[in-house]
Amino acid sequence: MNFQLTEEHLAVREAARDFAQQICKPGVIERDTHMTYPTEQIRQMAEMGFLGMTVSPEYGGSGLDYISYVLALEEISKVDNSCSVIMSVNNSLVCSGLEAYGTEEQKQQYLTKLATGEWIGSFCLSEPEAGSDATHQRTTAVDQGDHYLLNGTKNWITSGGTSRIHLVIAQSNPEAGHHGINAFIVDTEWEGVEIGAKEDKLGIRSSDTHTIMYNNVKVPKENRIGADGFGFKFAMKILSGGRIGIAAQALGITGGAYELAVAYSQEREAFGKPIAHHQAIAFKLADMATDIEAARMLVYRAAWLKQSGGNYDQAGAMAKLFASAAAMKHTVEAVQVHGGYGYVKEYHVERLMRDAKITQIYEGTSEVQKIVISRGVLKGGLY
Ligand code: CAA
Ligand code: FAD
Repeated sequence: MNFQLTEEHLAVREAARDFAQQICKPGVIERDTHMTYPTEQIRQMAEMGFLGMTVSPEYGGSGLDYISYVLALEEISKVDNSCSVIMSVNNSLVCSGLEAYGTEEQKQQYLTKLATGEWIGSFCLSEPEAGSDATHQRTTAVDQGDHYLLNGTKNWITSGGTSRIHLVIAQSNPEAGHHGINAFIVDTEWEGVEIGAKEDKLGIRSSDTHTIMYNNVKVPKENRIGADGFGFKFAMKILSGGRIGIAAQALGITGGAYELAVAYSQEREAFGKPIAHHQAIAFKLADMATDIEAARMLVYRAAWLKQSGGNYDQAGAMAKLFASAAAMKHTVEAVQVHGGYGYVKEYHVERLMRDAKITQIYEGTSEVQKIVISRGVLKGGLY
């Protein structure tokens, strides 16, 4: 067993840390307040190769491993989780999905633009009546010979107002249940794609989340991903990897709050000494440090399993379940360490606390992660 990061991992982490501090941090409070999309930050992320990190250079990606990807997400999530969710969806749902299951033509036409960040992608599974219960897709894609006719509504779509490409999950054969579901590459410039209102959210406020309507959108047959009926499996397989990314986001949120709490508690004095020297505060820092280490082990191990060809379904679910709970718990504590100052925007911890909550909801709620983990347990254990 080797817990050592490679020189390349350390370099990626350093580059992401600098990027977060120098490019994401300036203006992060204002973008959050006004729900301003981080246009310049995403442009520079593309230049840095952060939008197609694990994609082969052949298709415009950076060709790095999954551990490098989670290290970069962790660092950016310490500062700006609107940037990190856009990065996460583009990398682990859209680019990974196309690279793993797209045809050569699909990769040449779409992946090359998504991995370089020329285009941003969205992953469209959730619907008003199908969130956790994802097999109950109401969106239909009816086979018309040379194309499918796509109709329905998706909601909560990250990058919904800015993405050029949607990977859309839809039902083509209701009698076949989830075996009738397909996944499609949809260009938002096609006729019939309608972008609904932008959500006004608790956290990750500068990422743009929209409802999307598809009204008789003609999707060419060659834009289906995989064999007929592969769409639900496609979504599940891709989400297994995506959940490791969201776990890394949660880990970064806890890490960001921890770093702020450690620094502040050594500066702020009460009763004649830095508050860090009151045991009640020091113990909060100890609990944070311990949970960060535990979350890190789960996240990095899940990433390692993914890149080394192991089964990471349960490992990713565990990482997300644990890291997101830690993020919620410790961002609340980081606000407490800051006292009244923690309650205002200037000190950054209240934003991290608001951002933490979403990591327990998207890419499968904590309850869904427990469904995935418990099914693994009941299939005969995990080890
Ligand atoms: N890999 C491959 N196949 C899988 C799989 C996996 N990880 N998980 C399930 N499947 C297959 C099953 O084998 C089954 O196929 P067969 O019948 O051929 O065996 C099929 O999928 C259906 O599986 P289940 O019977 O387990 O389905 P279920 O109805 O019980 O639901 C669930 C399982 C885990 C709850 C699933 O519905 C789920 O993950 N729900 C949550 C949806 C979700 O995560 N949405 C996220 C949207 S994207 C997002 O949120 C992005 C963002 O915010 C940034
Ligand atoms: P529901 O499924 O209605 O769940 C409500 C509650 O019931 C939850 O606590 C849930 O855990 C619980 N519950 C449901 N079923 C069970 C069960 N069987 N056992 C125990 N508890 C259960 N989706 C996309 O497709 N693409 C995106 O880009 C995307 N981005 C998002 C961005 C944001 C900001 C948000 C808020 C959501 C986003 N989502 C996206 C949707 C997200 O994945 C769903 O919100 C999530 O999967 C939960 O679905 P739901 O909201 O319908 O809740």
